[in-house]
Amino acid sequence: LNVFGHGVCKLLPSIINDDWPGYSLELFNYPKHYSGDLECVYIPHGVIMDRTERLARNIMGDLGDHDIVVLCVLKAGYQFCADLVERIKALSRNSDHTLPMSVNFIRLKSYVNDQSTEDLHIVGAEDLSFLTGKVSSPAAIVDTGKTMKTLLKHVEAFRPKMIKVAGLLVKRVPNSSGCLPDYVGFEIPNRFVVGYALDYNEYFRDLNHICVISESGKLKYKV
Ligand code: IMP
Repeated sequence: LNVFGHGVCKLLPSIINDDWPGYSLELFNYPKHYSGDLECVYIPHGVIMDRTERLARNIMGDLGDHDIVVLCVLKAGYQFCADLVERIKALSRNSDHTLPMSVNFIRLKSYVNDQSTEDLHIVGAEDLSFLTGKVSSPAAIVDTGKTMKTLLKHVEAFRPKMIKVAGLLVKRVPNSSGCLPDYVGFEIPNRFVVGYALDYNEYFRDLNHICVISESGKLKYKV
């Protein structure tokens, strides 16, 4: 068993400070059905894509020429996973190095409204016996780190050779579990964000920018 990597953030994430107000919604396009539901564009889609391209290069540099199993953490991680895999594929076709990948999916659920709940469920792919090679498991967001910790425990039980975690967002939260991804897109303040597949009660996954939800948006989609 040779599991390593997590717990140490190897690469410096792009840090978004607490006083970052975001961009005015007027500056970008977003679906009309969300007007009034958002406060600002926090990370525009293009910036996410550019950062993902760089993460792909870093992953390629570290894991190039190995066989990997990508484990996408649904649902919030699907967009990041798809875009990251696309970028790695592009690098593989355009360089002497290559990174053969297979892609699998796992679903974890813990959030109701904007609060993390105690019971965390793993849905589907409970049997991860296909994880014999290396794993890079992309998660969209790490808040308290509880989800990632649970996921790692579950994955480690199947004795993969190596686990690397890529997370697009890591929140600066006081009660963090200290469990950090190996590859971090952005470190962000402790604010509830939506878009780019991140949801609030299943809404906003169809928004391409990462945005801050407004108070009226929270009320409108509250369960
Ligand atoms: P953790 O277990 O507290 O680290 O939470 C991680 C999970 O909570 C993620 O996989 C998300 O599904 C969800 N989550 C945490 N913060 C946000 C947010 O700001 N927007 C949307 N989902 C979030």
